[in-house]
Amino acid sequence: MPDDIRHMPLDDVSGDELISNTSANPYFGDILASRRTALLGSIGAAIGSFIGTAPREAAAFTPAQAAAGGPTIGFKSIPVNNGDSVVVPEGYSVQVILPQGTPLSGQAASRALVDMTGADQGAAVGAHHDGMHFFPIEGREPDEGSSTDGILALNHEYIEPRFMHARARGISLNSGRMPLVDGGKPEDEALKEINAHGSTLVRIRKGADGRWAVVADPRNRRITGATPMEITGPARGHALLRTKYSPDGTRTRGTLNNCAHGVTPWNTYLTAEENWAGYFVNRDQRDGRPALPREQARYGVPTSQSRYNWDQVPGGADAYVRFNAASTGADATQDYRNEPNNFGWIVEIDPWNPASVPVKHTALGRFAHEGVVFAQAREGRPVVAYAGCDSQFEYIYKFVSARPFQRATANGSLLDEGTLYVAKFNADGSGEWLPLRQGAGPLTAANGFADQGEVLVNTRLAADAVGATKMDRPEWGAVDPRDGRVYFTLTNNTRRTAENTDPANPRPSNIFGHIIRWREAGDDHAATAFAWDIFLFGGDETTGRIGDKPLTADNVVGCPDGLWFDAAGRLWVQSDIGESEQNRGPHAVFGNNQMLCADPMTGEMRRFLAGPVGQEVTGVTTTPDMRTMFVNLQHPGATTTAAEWAAGRTNSAFPDGNAATPRSATLVITKNDGGVIGS
Ligand code: FEO
Ligand code: CA
Ligand code: CA
Repeated sequence: MPDDIRHMPLDDVSGDELISNTSANPYFGDILASRRTALLGSIGAAIGSFIGTAPREAAAFTPAQAAAGGPTIGFKSIPVNNGDSVVVPEGYSVQVILPQGTPLSGQAASRALVDMTGADQGAAVGAHHDGMHFFPIEGREPDEGSSTDGILALNHEYIEPRFMHARARGISLNSGRMPLVDGGKPEDEALKEINAHGSTLVRIRKGADGRWAVVADPRNRRITGATPMEITGPARGHALLRTKYSPDGTRTRGTLNNCAHGVTPWNTYLTAEENWAGYFVNRDQRDGRPALPREQARYGVPTSQSRYNWDQVPGGADAYVRFNAASTGADATQDYRNEPNNFGWIVEIDPWNPASVPVKHTALGRFAHEGVVFAQAREGRPVVAYAGCDSQFEYIYKFVSARPFQRATANGSLLDEGTLYVAKFNADGSGEWLPLRQGAGPLTAANGFADQGEVLVNTRLAADAVGATKMDRPEWGAVDPRDGRVYFTLTNNTRRTAENTDPANPRPSNIFGHIIRWREAGDDHAATAFAWDIFLFGGDETTGRIGDKPLTADNVVGCPDGLWFDAAGRLWVQSDIGESEQNRGPHAVFGNNQMLCADPMTGEMRRFLAGPVGQEVTGVTTTPDMRTMFVNLQHPGATTTAAEWAAGRTNSAFPDGNAATPRSATLVITKNDGGVIGS
């Protein structure tokens, strides 16, 4: 989600993204000012000695690149792009598939978005494509099986109401919510918007002509903002999860603001709930002031207006009333005061069983989940997953399962018992994982954490209490298949000041972002200590650097967000410069949002792709043979101003060549010689 959407005033478009971290945790800037610039060299040495003390189990990071021929970057970097076009290197081709509104039937022709009903949208590809994975058909492992036939799972983060509703045409409107009609939100408009959220599972296959197309399959499925779901883990049944819909606190409806994703070692899909808070509203007041409970206040639930006004649908239907989180009396099972507590989780979807009920795994914590990435699973060892909370001054977490991974029997229950940790980045290049375990340290009943469910519903508050390090908006994480190092993008933080920088977040007014990485003690992902350094500083040729090398015209980048390792160890970096900054001021040098390819071992990085006007590049996966890559382009035309829109114009014609209908879509990228992408 672009920064400028996130930071609109509380009662404007989204209202979801205040700085809600008011904890007094140190920023480290006052601890060791001399370490403001933690650079690869010095910290790299620290990693070397740190890892050197415990060199066991090096085989844990078995190189996966052998079959792919190594992580060579063989293409010529493309220039930055300011045009309304998709640019890839010489020798590559692009096909566009799955624009919003594509029916999952594999047969019916797409209807124009504005002509679709809410039900139509519920049976078609959603909006604002984001994290994504290609599941090879009949595959038993996440990255093994067919490279020409599979189930593509992709997230739909949010929506562009202007491009979805006929009545939006010709009125002065920004990319936020639609105006009300007679004081209310038309029901089918709300349903259409809810159904454009969630995830899509769709079988796609490469034809004899080399082009990919949707295949009718019983597993084709939309998960939306209304799909029934099960709640598992320590917070299941907790008083804070009980609603009128589920008085025992075990079920809920829908998943929202699905940003990045995860893939489990047992071959299922995870979708992350990021900026869900703004979809709700709580107008309760005490003494004339907003009176939010802490589990809403710490996440920024709006107090005046919800993001898209779904709570304003006339008629009192439960499906829409639930977006109003006000209390109506003493009994929480008679209203939806706890509905926001049913969001902020990691959701597991089984792509292989269309009858399966998605599961919200509470043990992984409740926050603005950007995504989740697993360390390579090892037989007999715990499952370990890393996740970032994408807001200014929020935290990086990891989950370590209580039970060991056994490939033959592994399933989602592994995510229901374990320890959630939060990261503390020390000034000397070391780091600690601090457990968020009820009864440990400050997480006691006396401090407001009576049980583990209360810890998890209030994950951010628990992380505040244990003294985690406030980061510059943690976005995607990725684990290097060659050496197990973990990388996280920190996309930007314009509110970081000289007074609260720290070595892990060393830039005041961090407008370009950076990428941090670490290596776990003993190369054991379940360890509670690590050594970190900064891999990349976003910026232009004077401010950006990768390792100890300045960025160049071939790789300048701002606001890294999407991050993914292919099996050969190429690191793919995607940018998300916000709509109010794109193509202007200090960000003009980067052009439109883009994707680059890096070799972390050498510090080489080249620009691979640049997208059209107004979009962000987010979501990337390949087929197992690495010869077909899928990349998502989200919200083309989103920089269209309210005045341009009122005048009947948008500024992008992607992907249809029709400037009236820009919409998110998936790119299929191939190398003309049939080679490995990036090689
Ligand atoms: Fe949805 Fe943090 O990007
Ligand atoms: Ca972002
Ligand atoms: Ca993102």
